This record gives sequence, structure tokens and C-alpha cells, in this order.
Amino acid sequence: MYKKFFHLTRNPFELTPDPTCFVPTKRHNEALAALYYGVRRHKGFVVVTGEVGTGKTLLIRCLLRLLKESKEVAYAYVFNSRLTPAEFLQYILSDFGLAASGKNKSELLLELGQFLVGRGAKKQTTVLIIDEAHHLSAELLEEVRLLSNLETSDDKLLQIVLVGQPELDEKLDSVGLRQLKQRIALRARLGALDADETRGYIGQRLQIAGADASANALFPQQTIDRVFRHSRGFPRLINTICENALITAYARQISSVSPGIIEDVAKEFRLDVVTSFDDRAGRQSDIEVERVISALLDLFSAMRRPALAGDLEISRAVASGTGRHEPDI
Ligand SMILES: Nc1ncnc2c1ncn2[C@@H]1O[C@H](COP(=O)(O)OP(=O)(O)O)[C@@H](O)[C@H]1O
Ligand SMILES: [Mg+2]
Repeated sequence: MYKKFFHLTRNPFELTPDPTCFVPTKRHNEALAALYYGVRRHKGFVVVTGEVGTGKTLLIRCLLRLLKESKEVAYAYVFNSRLTPAEFLQYILSDFGLAASGKNKSELLLELGQFLVGRGAKKQTTVLIIDEAHHLSAELLEEVRLLSNLETSDDKLLQIVLVGQPELDEKLDSVGLRQLKQRIALRARLGALDADETRGYIGQRLQIAGADASANALFPQQTIDRVFRHSRGFPRLINTICENALITAYARQISSVSPGIIEDVAKEFRLDVVTSFDDRAGRQSDIEVERVISALLDLFSAMRRPALAGDLEISRAVASGTGRHEPDI
């Protein structure tokens, strides 16, 4: 609704991960290169992790775009990882265009194996991409490991890309998944942008949306500083803040987003509250300190309560981190 007012051709801070809006920061570029190289060179297993809203799904879409340029590549893209092993295999087969209904697990595996061997013989690349892979149960991760066994003496028949939040790393570290971890050929990690990258990101997204030289006037440096402060450089939060700031500026009929507007938006979204509660990216040690303090406070108050109930509370608070609700970033 504000596009005409700000002389833009499209919405600059759309939340859907659209490859045409890709801003190639150093980290995103490196991760994309690792993904592409791993898949095209048949490295087998590639893992990308990153916090919520750091651009993982966008990265997958960029990879798919690159892969689609070659007719030699077929892919299956799983984004719902809460499936049973049979549903998981059925989903993959259908995505590859194979008949899956009515087949039991071994029939599904057989069909998939034949498909992969056929493609492998023609030196074609076949990829399985799993987004939100941190949700995969140990059972499904074991299925994934079995799929990674599908190989000939000189080539891996299925390239597997696992993408998920940092919990995925923890899952892969667990003893039961050691074999799977050993098979990972390449790893990449996405994170929050720094202040300079945030400035570049906002500028480039505005340019992609058709902003001319007036982009600097639309988001002056001081305004960008506030966006960085409240978003802590997480791209999804940057988008949310900037999109709402543009709507507010439009409603007030002003042609430049002032720092005050960012403060208003941050307040509306209670981002200052999130900042003090959750900063896994940069202040892990602060969180540890907070955790200890909160456990101590619990301990002091527990000392004023009957012993048994108090002990239970403390161990619960420590085990669950802080006992507080951590808002999504
Ligand atoms: N390098 C980037 N260039 C352009 N937009 C980005 C970039 N990284 C993240 N974004 C944007 O941030 C938002 C969150 O990205 P998304 O891929 O959904 O994150 P994740 O999957 O890690 O939660 C999307 O709107 C996406 O377009
Ligand atoms: Mg995602």
C-alpha cells in the first residue's frame, strides 16, 4: 500500500524467503557455496545450522534455484520433519515423482534404491533436502543415515542436505548418532548480521525493491542503528521492524523513517523485552550468569519454603535453563 508513496516497485521487506531478494553477505555466500559444492561434487552429507530467522530456508531456495539450472539434478524437499519413517519415505518418493502409495517400507526403499542406482549410472545428481531438521526424531535421523548408505564403490548416490536450528548440532553430537555425524562432509553456520552488514542488507533490499538514490534518505544511518539494536542483526527481525516502520511512516505521511518510529515499532512488538531475555547470538555468557543468579534466587526463596518442595523447584529451574519462557526471535 505504501509502495507508490515511497517510489518502490515491490515490498522491500517481504517475509517470504524469496531468492530474488537474496543479499549475499559473506556468511550466506560461503554457506551457499558449501551447499552447492557439496551437492554437485557428491560429497554425501552437508549440514547447515543457524538460529531462527537467519536465512536458512532462503538459502535452500537459492540452492534449488542454482540446481534447477541443470537438468542433471533431481531433488526432494522435506520441510515437515514430524513424520513416521514410512510417511517420510513416501513423501520423498512422491517428490521424486515415484509411485509411493500402498507400498510398505521395504518396497519403498527398494523403489528408491533402484531409482538412485539408475540415476547414478547416468552420472546424475539426486538430492534430499530436509529443512527444520532439528525436529527430526532419532528414529528419522536413523532413516536418514540408512539412506546415506546408498552408495556404489566410487560414488554417493544420494546427496543429503540437513538444515536446522543449532539444536541439530546437539542432536548430531549425541552418542547414538555418531555414525551419522562421521558422514558429514561439509558444515556451514548462519548467524546474525553485524552492524555494517545490517546497513548493507537494508540498503540492498531497498534497491532490489526499486529504491533509487533516495534509499539513504528513507532509512538514515541513525534509524538503521536503531534497527540493528532491536533486531540484533537477525534478518527476519530486521524485515519485521523495517516493514512496520514503513507502514507507520506512510500512515504519518512522512518520507523518511525516523529513529523514533523504530522505537515505536520495537515497543509495539515488545522487542526490548526479548532483548533482555534472549540473546543467544552474542551474550551466551550473560545468559549463563542470569541462569546462575536465577537459580540462586530460587534457592534463597526455597530456603524459606519447606525443604522438599524447594529442592524440586531448583533442580527444575536449572535443568530447564532458567525456568523462564524464552520468546521466539
Ligand atoms: N541473505 C539474505 N538476503 C535477503 N534476505 C534474507 C537473507 N537472510 C535472511 N533473509 C530474510 O530473512 C527472513 C528469514 O529468513 P528464513 O530463510 O525464513 O530464516 P530461517 O529459515 O533461518 O528461519 C526472510 O524474509 C528472508 O528472506
Ligand atoms: Mg526456515
